[in-house]
Amino acid sequence: MKQRKFPKLIITGCNGLIGSILSPKLINLYEILGIDLIKSTLIPSVEFNTTSNYKNLKSIFKGFDVVIDLAAHSSVKTPWDMVASNNIQSTYNVIKAASESGIKRVIFASSNHVTGMYEKDYPYNNIVSGNYPKENKIPYITTSMPIRPDSPYGIGKSTGEAIAKYFSEKFNISIICLRIGTVNLKNKPIDSEGTSAIRSFATLLTHDDLIQLIKKSINAPTNVKYEIFYGVSNNKWRFWNIKDSEIKIGYIPNENAEKWR
Ligand SMILES: NC(=O)c1ccc[n+]([C@@H]2O[C@H](COP(=O)([O-])OP(=O)(O)OC[C@H]3O[C@@H](n4cnc5c(N)ncnc54)[C@H](O)[C@@H]3O)[C@@H](O)[C@H]2O)c1
Repeated sequence: MKQRKFPKLIITGCNGLIGSILSPKLINLYEILGIDLIKSTLIPSVEFNTTSNYKNLKSIFKGFDVVIDLAAHSSVKTPWDMVASNNIQSTYNVIKAASESGIKRVIFASSNHVTGMYEKDYPYNNIVSGNYPKENKIPYITTSMPIRPDSPYGIGKSTGEAIAKYFSEKFNISIICLRIGTVNLKNKPIDSEGTSAIRSFATLLTHDDLIQLIKKSINAPTNVKYEIFYGVSNNKWRFWNIKDSEIKIGYIPNENAEKWR
């Protein structure tokens, strides 16, 4: 008899970069159903537009435990009308459907671009341009500091965090927002869409650390109701605080972008 594996996972946006990194690592641990505009070849999936009727999303979600919500136009250059019509609408639908269909936890792919404007200020401006400051200790940007979105895309992710906060407080669903740093296919600091190689020495989140962060978010204690965590590797020049995710979910990244210096 096939043993039922817990929890049962939904991955929206499963066919994209992060979905394709996660799927092979999670498929043997959990029952998974992917949702994307185009079917995945890696996991069982349905073709569905998450901005369409959320009642259909509710019926897809029935019987599942956790949603990893990746569906979005992921470019930092995404224009406002697409952020509003796709990204924000999708996040709203997914979280509303989750909160009404017995899903216990949503892991929302937020972004470091929620606080990207801090990078205009010293010392972050110097770090992202490779002009490294002399000080040994960099004051970390924390998730309790005010948001400073750097783009319409960043505004969309900030709004997603607000949507998550509302549904978590109103309907008692657990939601973890991950302000993901830089994930790329090559899995090392390179020039990629929206970021430079030199910036990604600070912002890289390696595939192994990403997988650890997602697994620890899935399995976080039930008293984790609403949290925002930065998703970054243990890079020498990282400037986001990750002490809170270590304390609350045990995330301790193992990799440091300096190994590619
Ligand atoms: N890659 C990174 O470095 C990074 C950094 C910060 C945040 N993020 C966020 O993480 C998530 C995944 O990123 P990625 O790099 O895999 O992006 P991606 O563009 O490779 O994948 C996104 C996937 O979402 C799907 N999608 C978009 N709108 C949809 C809709 N309405 N209905 C169904 N599917 C839809 C797309 O078809 C695509 O397969 C995104 O939300 C992105 O904003 C990524």
